[in-house]
Amino acid sequence: MLKGFHKDFLFGVATSAYQIEGGNQNDWSEWEKQANIKGIKTSCGQATDHWNRYENDFLLLKELGVNAYRFSLEWSRIEPKPGEINQTALQRYRDMVLLLKKLGIEPVVTLHHFTNPLWLHTDFPWHTEKSIERFAKYAEKVISTLSPEVKYWITINEPVVFILLGYIDGGNPPGFKDSKLAFYALKNLLLAHKKASEIIRHYSPEARIGIAHNMMKISPARIFNPLDLYLTKHADRFYNWMLVDAFAYNILNYRFFSVFRKREKLELKNTIDFLGINYYTRMHFKFDLLKPFHLSFFSFDKSKNGLSDMRWEIYPEGLESVLNRVYEKLHLPIIITENGIADREDQKRIKFITDHLKVLKRCQKNIPLDGYFYWSLLDNYEWLLGFEPRFGLYEVDYQTFERKKRKVADYFAKLAKGESKV
Ligand code: GAL
Repeated sequence: MLKGFHKDFLFGVATSAYQIEGGNQNDWSEWEKQANIKGIKTSCGQATDHWNRYENDFLLLKELGVNAYRFSLEWSRIEPKPGEINQTALQRYRDMVLLLKKLGIEPVVTLHHFTNPLWLHTDFPWHTEKSIERFAKYAEKVISTLSPEVKYWITINEPVVFILLGYIDGGNPPGFKDSKLAFYALKNLLLAHKKASEIIRHYSPEARIGIAHNMMKISPARIFNPLDLYLTKHADRFYNWMLVDAFAYNILNYRFFSVFRKREKLELKNTIDFLGINYYTRMHFKFDLLKPFHLSFFSFDKSKNGLSDMRWEIYPEGLESVLNRVYEKLHLPIIITENGIADREDQKRIKFITDHLKVLKRCQKNIPLDGYFYWSLLDNYEWLLGFEPRFGLYEVDYQTFERKKRKVADYFAKLAKGESKV
């Protein structure tokens, strides 16, 4: 148990299916085939081969002494064709859940973490209403199979990031550059979340349901420049607060500059029991006269805390202001569903984790905080950046799939077992 936090506090690590399992065929594996055009470093392929090594990997969780583990289910594996369920795959996920329970580790299951079956984009794309029903059917299958054992559910991981990269920037699948379609995709993702939440409540009234939202501290690059200030305000609203406000006030107020705006009433208020926040960094926004309708941002070591290997600013201070504001609006418990650093040499990770936990320790006096998940258990496939960024408490050798403990893992285990405190 993590010292200084309440007794039910979840202290664990997080992963996602596509990034570790290996052997998945979905929209991303298809996207990677055009790697030379899209600037993808490597394709995911076998990833860390977790699908075949999960039992061994769960022993690493035991070694870490964590009381919870967040992971996701690969929709394309469970439903390779519309309506066709792969029972063997579903059963493997059930085995995972049962093994975690046996080890005394609370499973926290994410239904959707970025990847989609290819057929979804062709026949039931997210910007069409048909997607909601499709997702609900998949969700019902897995919830009815896993719900007696699973208490914590996360319906969708980072819907705003999904539409930003997949529907506005176009660098991720499905690769649209259309802020209007992005609105419809976001709306449908939120309605699909709502359906899944109803299904979870039906099968398991005791369950605790959340959605995972990526939040950053967003600052102007030049603090006295009115254009940077305008951009910062706009980006902050869109990236951080549009989703939180939708849950707090039941209104999805979508404003992508003046390019596309729409306000819509969505009844979301009672569909979550907690908000999951994925917090990594701060970004600095700079207005670019050549690209006025662009969320142009960059990272630099303004706070002198250092940068990660991905050159992301280490900025635990930002987490405090994010948490305070979220709670002010939502009045719901919060779980940090991801927080981590790419740090191949494992030089900065211990301090990174300590400093973020210190923020949580301070904030829990005023805010109900129910968990912290480090991203990630293992090194894994970091989307467009391939295998270069190293987030793991355990290092992965991608030739042999051998896992090697980093020194941070011992520190993490001491925290988890209450032998050390922050
Ligand atoms: C999150 C995402 C994860 C992981 C992480 C590190 O936004 O949910 O899949 O890639 O970022 O960049």
